[in-house]
Amino acid sequence: MNHEEKYTDDDYSVRMSDLRLWRKLLGFIAPQWRWVCLAVFLSLVITCTSLVLPRLVQVGLDHYILAGHMDTEAKMRGIGELSFVFLLLVSVGFVANFLQVLVLEWTGQRTMHALRQRLFSHVMNLNLSFFHSIPVGKLVTRLTNDVQNLYEMFTSVIITLFNDGVRLVGILAILFWMNWRLALILSATFPIMLVITLWFGRLSRNAFRRIRAHLAEINAFIQESVSGITVIQLFLREADLGRRFGRLNDRYRDAAFYQIHVFGIFVPLIEVMNSIAMALIVWYGGGEILRQHMTIGVLAAFISYMRLFFQPLRELSQKYTIVQSAMTSAERIFDLLEVRDSLPVPEKSMIPRNAPGSIEFSGVRFEYEPGRPAIRNVSFFVNAGETLAIVGATGSGKTTIVNLLERFYDPLDGCIRVGGEDLRELDLHWLREQIGLVMQDVFIVPGSIRENIALDRPISEERLERIVSLSQLSGFVKNLPDGPNTRIGEGGMNLSAGQKQLLAFARVLARDPGILILDEATANVDTETEMLIERAIQAAMAHRTSIVIAHRLSTIRRADRILVMDGGRIVEQGTHEELMQAGGLYQHLQTLQNGFSHVGETVEAEAG
Ligand SMILES: Nc1ncnc2c1ncn2[C@@H]1O[C@H](COP(=O)(O)OP(=O)(O)O)[C@@H](O)[C@H]1O
Ligand SMILES: [Mg+2]
Repeated sequence: MNHEEKYTDDDYSVRMSDLRLWRKLLGFIAPQWRWVCLAVFLSLVITCTSLVLPRLVQVGLDHYILAGHMDTEAKMRGIGELSFVFLLLVSVGFVANFLQVLVLEWTGQRTMHALRQRLFSHVMNLNLSFFHSIPVGKLVTRLTNDVQNLYEMFTSVIITLFNDGVRLVGILAILFWMNWRLALILSATFPIMLVITLWFGRLSRNAFRRIRAHLAEINAFIQESVSGITVIQLFLREADLGRRFGRLNDRYRDAAFYQIHVFGIFVPLIEVMNSIAMALIVWYGGGEILRQHMTIGVLAAFISYMRLFFQPLRELSQKYTIVQSAMTSAERIFDLLEVRDSLPVPEKSMIPRNAPGSIEFSGVRFEYEPGRPAIRNVSFFVNAGETLAIVGATGSGKTTIVNLLERFYDPLDGCIRVGGEDLRELDLHWLREQIGLVMQDVFIVPGSIRENIALDRPISEERLERIVSLSQLSGFVKNLPDGPNTRIGEGGMNLSAGQKQLLAFARVLARDPGILILDEATANVDTETEMLIERAIQAAMAHRTSIVIAHRLSTIRRADRILVMDGGRIVEQGTHEELMQAGGLYQHLQTLQNGFSHVGETVEAEAG
């Protein structure tokens, strides 16, 4: 496994000019259009107030402070009035700013709330095959980080970009109106600034992409290392992994450093441009004042406006990062939303009145990956109440049959019927409720034993007791401090593998499904528990159609029919006696196992 080469497909490169993406984003914000309009209106108010302030200073300077023909009292009054208007505008700006933040946060939170909800429901309904194709970590990132990135962009960038745009245009208009020659001189710096900004945009997109790709690698590496920690420590791989992590870590640091270089050049460059523009204006404006073509107030206002003008440009680098990461996130979120990997649902799905009886596979073919069939031409029939056993080596397709029966996937060819009805016609919820599946791994819900057996369904005290006793858990539960109310799982007691198995049988009994499936359920338990489990199995199988995979010999012997699978095909089928007589693969497996049993080992029915 080469960690360093993996997951690099993650580096989406998104252009900010990607209109398709912006359209989709707009679609998401559209339901909140009233609030967005309010935010835009408020931002116009904020911009207007901030643009009037330098003009007030100019009026104060030219008309009152430096005006020669006025008496001091009139000047003082005028200045007082101006100061009052100044204060008023500042207050209005403050209130508008406050309201805008509220409106934006509110709208943003609501939009993201809806988006998270939609993403989650969407993911929950996707076909199992989708989950095999994407690591869990990535899915979690989509629903948390990516949504958060969008939120940040929405609240701190989209509206401010609009603000800044309005402000820049407004400032230019005012400058040309105040003194068009001075404004023209200022404009001379624009082409240079445009070049700098475009150049910066390209560099920083590259830097950003590299950082993301390296970070994705680091995440994947940590995730895999932690989940494989037992193997890593067992084989003393710690130092080696540490070195490999070091290489990834180096690359990430270098990429981050490169980005800092880019930013580190951009911000001072904008600063230099600001100063150059300032020098030009002081030089030309000073001359104009001396020639009495312009007032001191206009020059002062010009300089104030220029500060306002360059401020958004200085912040551009920061916003660029947010937008870049939000666009990437948006792309990935929309990609996820567009995955249409759910099973086709019939227009009117059927819920049969009776519990399902028989199970039929006819000519079923299925492959997880194109071109690599997991099972082919599988046909068999199980009558209601009968037991079918399936044996075969690992990878021969046994679990695939279960997956298809649970309709985690649809067969590519052939047809599966339960109680005579095609699975594709049946209500999926009903179907899964009818099947009790016991696997080797038993999922324990953190909570009491009672909750783990009933799984959110009401259960009477007597019924619980009967189930506990049938599933051979009484001895265990009796000795617990709180009986069936003892907490197990995370933060509670730990159960042994055998106890978990018994619990799984208790769950099946509580749910009372028409079909029972055991998929290598008792692969690793001790001999004592084995006997308990044997009894629990008998209780669970009574009156149910059952499929038993690679199980204890005794259970398989008692099965009404046995399928022997090899390489995705059924190679033999019949009763135990028939198959033993036939002298094929089954007999071979049996002899192998009996051989081991004589040595006194507890061996599973076969290698599966
Ligand atoms: N999620 C999956 N994605 C791709 N291939 C799979 C998946 N699950 C099983 N397979 C393949 O399908 C074949 C049958 O697997 P399975 O039914 O699990 O075998 P068994 O249960 O008999 O050990 C194997 O070749 C296995 O590699
Ligand atoms: Mg299996």
